[in-house]
Amino acid sequence: MMESIPNLNEARLKIVYPQIADLPYAAQEAVNILRGNLQLSGKGIQAIAVTSASKEEGKSSVAIQLTKSFAALNKAVVYVDCDIRKSKTLRRYQINEQVVGLTEYLSGNCRLENIVYRTDNPNMDMVFTGAAAPNPSELLSDTMFEQFLEILKANYDYVIVDTPPINAVIDGAIVAKSCDGTVMVLEQGVTERAEAIRMKRQLTYAGVKIIGAVLNKVGADPNGYGYGYGYGYGYGYGYGYGEEQNDKKKKSKK
Ligand SMILES: Nc1ncnc2c1ncn2[C@@H]1O[C@H](COP(=O)(O)OP(=O)(O)OP(=O)(O)O)[C@@H](O)[C@H]1O
Ligand SMILES: [Mg+2]
Repeated sequence: MMESIPNLNEARLKIVYPQIADLPYAAQEAVNILRGNLQLSGKGIQAIAVTSASKEEGKSSVAIQLTKSFAALNKAVVYVDCDIRKSKTLRRYQINEQVVGLTEYLSGNCRLENIVYRTDNPNMDMVFTGAAAPNPSELLSDTMFEQFLEILKANYDYVIVDTPPINAVIDGAIVAKSCDGTVMVLEQGVTERAEAIRMKRQLTYAGVKIIGAVLNKVGADPNGYGYGYGYGYGYGYGYGYGEEQNDKKKKSKK
């Protein structure tokens, strides 16, 4: 363990104002139910990774919404973006400030206090990825990353960790392994069964504790947003992969 755990509340943190639009009521409700199930998954589940097999299945959306959902319960929660290679978080929430993040911290170029940003929600803080790094998987597999999560866990009730796609790069499995539990996001009608199985195998092989699965974009308009937008969720893995599943694979995304 650490010799000393910085108290982040006493640090002078900068504030960002992410413009996070509310999801439709049904989607918020589904994430609230996921939150409830995560709370019931036992003590010691504090750092939760959100991952998926491939890109754009909704990891970041679910991670952000889950963070907001814990904050709404008055839990102290921090969103940590570990998609070092391709994060879209800053741009998506129109955070225009120059921020320092995980890569600067993990490569020893700044202190932890400097990478935790307050938001306009007093219960919700954020950590961004920082500048592109040539060696993301090395940075994330360093014990410094585990210590970083320990420090956050000492300062927050929950740490929600956004990751890159499991089947694309090893970073996601490395990050998930350092967390207490992992939620897998599957996109309705898009995530191929083989991809889902590959993800689960990879996570299991890495020793990751899978604590839930989310079936995302249930009933969503396949062409985009708006109408029909929503989350579904399934709790407990095994959900959706079994032989009993009635495949609805209309399209596949590469
Ligand atoms: N429930 C939903 N209904 C409709 N659209 C959604 C839903 N969840 C996410 N999206 C949209 O799908 C796109 C991909 O979502 P998101 O960025 O969260 O996925 P991701 O898995 O983090 O992607 P990446 O692998 O690129 O990081 C975004 O445009 C997002 O707004
Ligand atoms: Mg993402």
